[in-house]
Parts: sequence; C-alpha cells; structure tokens
Amino acid sequence: MTDKATLEYNGQKYEFPVIKGSEDELAIDIKTLRSATGGITTIDPGYKNTGSCSSAITFLDGEKGILRYRGYSIEELAEKADFLEVAYLLIFGELPNKEQLVKFHADIKEESHVDEEMKKILDSFPKSAHPMGVLSSLTSALIAFNPSTVDVSSEKAMYHAIVRILAKFPVLVAWTMRKKKGLPLDYGDDSLGYVENIHKMMFKKPTQTYQKNEIVIEALDKLLILHADHEQNCSTSTVRIVGSSHAGLFASLSAGISALWGPLHGGANQAVLEMLEAIEADGGDTKKYMAKAKDKSDPFRLMGFGHRVYKNFDPRAKIIKVAADEVLADLGIEDPILEIAKGLEKEALEDQYFVDRKLYPNVDFYSGIIYRALGIPTEMFTVMFALGRLPGWIAQWREMRLNNEPIGRPRQVYTGANSRGFVEVDQR
Ligand code: CMC
Repeated sequence: MTDKATLEYNGQKYEFPVIKGSEDELAIDIKTLRSATGGITTIDPGYKNTGSCSSAITFLDGEKGILRYRGYSIEELAEKADFLEVAYLLIFGELPNKEQLVKFHADIKEESHVDEEMKKILDSFPKSAHPMGVLSSLTSALIAFNPSTVDVSSEKAMYHAIVRILAKFPVLVAWTMRKKKGLPLDYGDDSLGYVENIHKMMFKKPTQTYQKNEIVIEALDKLLILHADHEQNCSTSTVRIVGSSHAGLFASLSAGISALWGPLHGGANQAVLEMLEAIEADGGDTKKYMAKAKDKSDPFRLMGFGHRVYKNFDPRAKIIKVAADEVLADLGIEDPILEIAKGLEKEALEDQYFVDRKLYPNVDFYSGIIYRALGIPTEMFTVMFALGRLPGWIAQWREMRLNNEPIGRPRQVYTGANSRGFVEVDQR
C-alpha cells in the first residue's frame, strides 16, 4: 500500500502519494498538485526541498556523511579502483570486468585526437582568459566538428558519443593549461594509462621525455574519483536541464562547466587557495578571518566550509586531508598553507557559529593544496574538478535521456506589476 500525504487548503483536502527510495528516503510526489488544486504551485528557492528526478547513480546522506557511487562507498572506490573503472561504473551501472575495461580504454584511445582546427579557436583566446571559460567554449566548439546528434535510442550511438567525449575532453583540459603556460600543444600517448596520459599531456616539456611519477598519478587518480559524481548538484542539474531540451551531450556539458565555475560550487577550490594565501600574506592570523566569516555585515565566507547537503563531515574532505598529508610528505614539500588550513579547520570545528550551522570542511578545502603540490596552477583547479566530474555529468545525462524525462521547466510566483496600459515615451 502506498503511503499518502494530505494537504489541506481552504477547507479542501488533497492526497499525494509518498514514494520511497532504495535507501528509504521519502518524497511526496506532487506531480498532480496543479491539476488537482486548480493551479496551486510550490515555491522552493534554491530547490532546498525539491527532488528533480529519481536517480540510481549516486547516494549521499548528508547527516551521516555517506557517499556511494552505484552502491559502492567512496572510501572503498578511492582506495581500490582507478578513475576509468569508476567512470564506467557511474555511466553504465556496474564495475567493468577486465575485458570490458580494456575495450573501454581502447575505444577511448581510438577517439583521442582533436581536430587541428580547434587550435585556431584556442589561439584566439587571450592568454589571460580564465581556463574555465576557455574549457566551456572549447567543449561547445567540439560540436562544430562532431555535428551529428546522438541517437539516444541506440546504445551503440550513445556508447560512441560517451567514448568520444571521454577521449577528447582531457586533450582540451591539457591544451587549456598549456596555452596558459605558453607551452606547445601536446598530444597523448596510447601506451599510457588514462590518467597518466592526461598528466603527460598537461606537463610534458617539449625538450624532455615524459617521466611517470607514481605518487603524482595515484594522487591525481584519487582526486578525480572523489569528484566523479555528487548527485543533483548545481552543475549536474544544469547538465540534466539543458539536456532535457534535447540539446546534445557536448552542449549540455559545456553548460555544466559554466555552472561549476562559480565560487559557491567548483570554483571554491581556487577560492580556498587564494583565501589561504591571503591569510598567509596577512601574517597568518586565522582568528581575524574567522571573525570576518561570522560577521554578517562582511560578505567574506570561509571558502571550503559548509555544504548544501552535508551537515556532517564531507567524506571526500576526510580522504583528501589524509591524501594531502601523504602527497606532501612523499614529494618532500613543506607547505605553510597546509598548516594554516589545519589551524582554520580546528578553530572552525570548535566555534559555536560553525557548530550551530553544521559547517564542516567540504571537498574543496584541501584539494587545492594537493593540486598545488602536483604543480597545477591555481586557475586550473576548477578545470581539474570538471575533469573529475565528467563521468558523473555523462552518467546523469544518459540516465535522464534513457528515462525519457520531460523538459525541465520550473514554475514561479509572479510578484511584478499588474496589467497596465502602455505609456508613450513623451508622456513618461
Ligand atoms: N562561511 C561562513 N558562514 C557560512 C558559510 C561559510 N563558508 N557557509 C554557510 N554559512 C552560513 C550562512 O551565512 C548561513 O548563516 P545564517 O543562517 O546565520 O544566515 C548558514 O551558514 C547557512 O548557509 P546557506 O548559505 O543558507 O547554506 P546553503 O546550503 O545555501 O549554501 C554553500 C551552501 C556551500 C553555498 C555555503 O556553505 C558556502 O557558500 N560555502 C563556501 C563556498 C564553498 O566552499 N563551496 C563549495 C561547496 S562543496 C563543492 C561543490 O559543491 O562544488
């Protein structure tokens, strides 16, 4: 028997089914609200209480600090899987067997070239352009070189489109950074692993042969896994809503990259590092910045703290904090910024303002410290987030299209002027 929720308004009662997810999450299904009530809508700015879809990809419990991809805990995946396996898992629902994984990688390699004409587009950007803007534009420009729309009723066509973007996106990421650094654009090497190849494309100097560094590749792989999906966040919802108009995969991804760019979302990793550097330059007085964060007349927020869903430790932050310690020790780097971050975290966790609001470090708080140790420029941090999030966006887009979801089109409550006559310009 389905549970029901009753809404009473103006002496009338309306019943709505309550649906239950596989982890016993409850949701009132209000699909019939407007037709049943004669046009009453709901209002929920920021969608804090609104489920936009049913999804079988990622489960997170913000109260308990749980994150699972397709049922597997983020802790286990970060420890045992590699990024390509996780990408396959997210997109197709199951971990690949050896044969599937080898084929998946081989198919990706087959598509890992980007049309040379794309270089002209990249060339036309000033060097000062932010890499996220460049990446979003290049992803959109890819459509011009791959103009056929994906036939979503064909698994084969869908698979081909997915493989194509997983192959070409890292090239765009690497080119975006090389342009910024004034390095010649490089191509990959099919004999390397997926993440190793990304690293090579980003960092190989024209005069040197590429040397693999296990510590760096492992850290990069882990960071990409931790960022790979996070259910209906701002950029993922953007990808789904753009895709719901049947705009293509590349167009939807390009929009997702723009959404991720903002400092309240993926852009926070850059903002965290800039904040930590500013605190260091200002004498390392963390208390001063804690006070600023709590002062309601000051727009400053402690970047890397707080989360819309986690009201407990972000499980990804816990893993990244340990990884940051290990990577810095393994690479023999002493970074005063890490000490400032730890000091800030300790103070925030003991501070009543942060305790009352359940503000804990999020995924972005420590990731920038590792990126910096790996030699990735600060402006590229959010690009690295996008690289990690790519499989999640693809998985969510695919699920949305396979479920044949309707076009995303929220309602509003209009609060503007009532009907009035036009006033000629000389009478205004
Ligand atoms: N520093 C100081 N106060 C904060 C912070 C912060 N970082 N985050 C939230 N608060 C306060 C906020 O002022 C509000 O206080 P009050 O109840 O007195 O008005 C209360 O906590 C609730 O905040 P909110 O803005 O209503 O919460 P939200 O769910 O709308 O926002 C958030 C979530 C992540 C945007 C926010 O916590 C924030 O701006 N954090 C800093 C930016 C950041 O680190 N973003 C990365 C998020 S994780 C990765 C990702 O999504 O990409």
